[in-house]
Amino acid sequence: MKLMIINGPNLNLLGKREPEVYGSTTFEDYFAQLQQKFPEVELEYFQSNIEGELIDKIQEVGFSYDGIVLNAAAYTHTSVGIGDAVKGIETPVIEVHISNTFKREDFRHVSYISSGAKGVILGFGLQSYDLAIQSFL
Ligand code: DQA
Repeated sequence: MKLMIINGPNLNLLGKREPEVYGSTTFEDYFAQLQQKFPEVELEYFQSNIEGELIDKIQEVGFSYDGIVLNAAAYTHTSVGIGDAVKGIETPVIEVHISNTFKREDFRHVSYISSGAKGVILGFGLQSYDLAIQSFL
């Protein structure tokens, strides 16, 4: 089982960024916990602040990996290009968000990813990633 976690803009700042919303754990620390928890899964992680790099990564892994866990962050609410990439690949995508985007500003209620995703998990903090991985097992 080969899974790729793809994180979008500003998620490299997890741990420092708005800790009241996103918590105080860095993604690197959390990723190490995930690797320990799911030793049977070949788990990889990619982060970029650049829309085109996220699309390139989705295309690169989207015909060979078993699953993608995608937190497109702010691009979720703006990117037709990432939404199209998700629809254009064969690998199933689970859309995740750390926060409950529906409890937040109206612009966060729109997702260009959801209609192409296999499922959506949001609002469970970093545990959203764990639940997404479990959905593939
Ligand atoms: C987020 C929610 C987005 O609205 C926001 O732009 C993010 C993170 C989340 O994981 O809760 O950067 O995707």
